Amino acid sequence: MDWNELLDAATEVRQRAYCPYSGFQVGSAISTADGTVFAGCNVEHRTFGLTVCAERVATFSAVARGHRGLEAVAVVTDTSPPSPPCGQCLEVLTEFGRPDLPILLANLAGERVEYALRDLLPHPFDLEPPFKR
Ligand code: THU
Repeated sequence: MDWNELLDAATEVRQRAYCPYSGFQVGSAISTADGTVFAGCNVEHRTFGLTVCAERVATFSAVARGHRGLEAVAVVTDTSPPSPPCGQCLEVLTEFGRPDLPILLANLAGERVEYALRDLLPHPFDLEPPFKR
């Protein structure tokens, strides 16, 4: 898979992260079934609790435009190793992405690590859990 378009979009949107409290910039870009790309950055709030992560901003932008099927996700931070999405974002990704949804974590130094969504969240919340009696 050619990740360049998503990495460019995630790197660019990351620069617009609103993160005066943490100083931690995150950019995410998502491609959907027809190839449209949606990007999002983290947007913080002074309560801290109202902060929304980059991955959810990108996902909700796609859904708001009528794109409910995610095909690939890139996340760009400046950590080494590159940071994965938080648990809340992974849960949201399971709503619109298959378990094999490819997620590429990257940093500004060029490190890249690819996972499938199921690697990062093997047991998402399910309305019909396999554990029921
Ligand atoms: N953040 C994200 O944007 N994505 C994640 O998956 C984890 C955390 C943001 C939220 C906050 O603005 C900053 O990173 C520090 O937690």
